[in-house]
Amino acid sequence: MKFETPRILPSDITSRDLFLDRRRVLRYAAAGAAFGALGAGVSGRALAATIAAPGAKLAYTPNAALSIKDPPNSYEDITTYNNFYEFGTDKSDPAVQARDFKPLPWKVTVDGEAEVKGSFDFEDILRPLSLEERIYRLRCVEAWSMVIPWTGFPLAELIKRFKPTSKAKYVEFTTLMSPRQMPGQRSPVLRWPYVEGLRMDEAMHPLTFIAVGVYGQMLPNQNGAPLRLVVPWKYGFKSIKSIVRIRFTELQPKNSWQVAAPSEYGFFANVNPSVDHPRWSQATERRIGGSLLAKRAATLPFNGYAEQVASLYKGMDLRRNF
Ligand code: MTE
Repeated sequence: MKFETPRILPSDITSRDLFLDRRRVLRYAAAGAAFGALGAGVSGRALAATIAAPGAKLAYTPNAALSIKDPPNSYEDITTYNNFYEFGTDKSDPAVQARDFKPLPWKVTVDGEAEVKGSFDFEDILRPLSLEERIYRLRCVEAWSMVIPWTGFPLAELIKRFKPTSKAKYVEFTTLMSPRQMPGQRSPVLRWPYVEGLRMDEAMHPLTFIAVGVYGQMLPNQNGAPLRLVVPWKYGFKSIKSIVRIRFTELQPKNSWQVAAPSEYGFFANVNPSVDHPRWSQATERRIGGSLLAKRAATLPFNGYAEQVASLYKGMDLRRNF
C-alpha cells in the first residue's frame, strides 16, 4: 500500500522537531490502520483483549495435518532444558535467570524493504490472527531433540501484512537487547543482540511458525516470550527468541552463530545427517527425556520435512551451504 502524504503544511507548525514528530505519528497511525485491518480470527482477538502473562491459557485449534505423531516432551523438559544464552549458557540457567524478565508490554519494530513499517504492540500483532497448535521436533545442533506442542501462527500471515517490496530477498530478526534484564548480555559470549535470518521463500513457507505458546499457554520466558520463531527443518539456533525487530533486506543477514564461528555454523543450518558439525557427528540424535542409555535415532534430512522443503534448495550444494 501507499501511505497518504500527511496534509501538514510547514506553516502549520512551529518547529522542525515537532513537524518531524507529527509526520512520524501519522505514518505510524497509517501503518497501524493498514496492519490491523486484515482478517479477524477469534483466538488472537480474544488473547489480545486479555493480554496475558506467561502461563496464561490460549485459545487455539490443533493442526493435526502439520503435526508429527511422536509423543511430546513433558512441559518440564521443554521449560527447564533450554538454550537462551541471554540468560546463561547452561541448559538449566534460563528457567532460573529469566524468572523476572518482563515480556509485556512488548513492541516489534518492522523496517527495511516493506511498505508497512513501524512499531507494533504485541496485541496488535495478534489481534487479527487465529492461533493453532503444531507439534514439531526441535533438533538442536548439539545433536539432541525434543518434541514440542507449539501454539502460534504461520510467519507468512504476519509478513503479508507488512507488504514486503520486490527488493525484500531476506528477513532478519533481532532479539531484545537489555543487559539489565538479560544477564548473559553482560558477557561477550556472542555479539549481542542475537540476530537470525531467513531467505524470503523460507520465511513464507507454510511450515515456518511464530510461537506465542507451548502446551496451549503463553510462552514461558525461557522459551522466548512473548514471541519467537520456529523453523522445524533447521537446527534450533535459527529459531530466534523474544523478537523485537523484523527487517526486510536485499542482502543476506549475518546471523549471530555464523558471526561467532563461521566454520561451524552457516546461514542455512538445514538439519543434515551427512554434514557433520566440525566437532561432532550429526548422523544420530538423542531425544531429551529418555534414558541416556537409550538407542540414538538416525537424524532425518531436513528434520523429517524433506518432502515439503527440499525443493527450496534445488541446485544448491548443501555441503557448502550448511
Ligand atoms: N534465541 C536467542 N535469542 N538466544 C539464544 O541463545 N538459542 C537457540 C534458539 N533461539 C537462542 C535463541 C538455540 S541454540 C536453540 S536449540 C533454541 O532456541 C532452543 O529453544 P528452546 O529453549 O525453547 O527449546
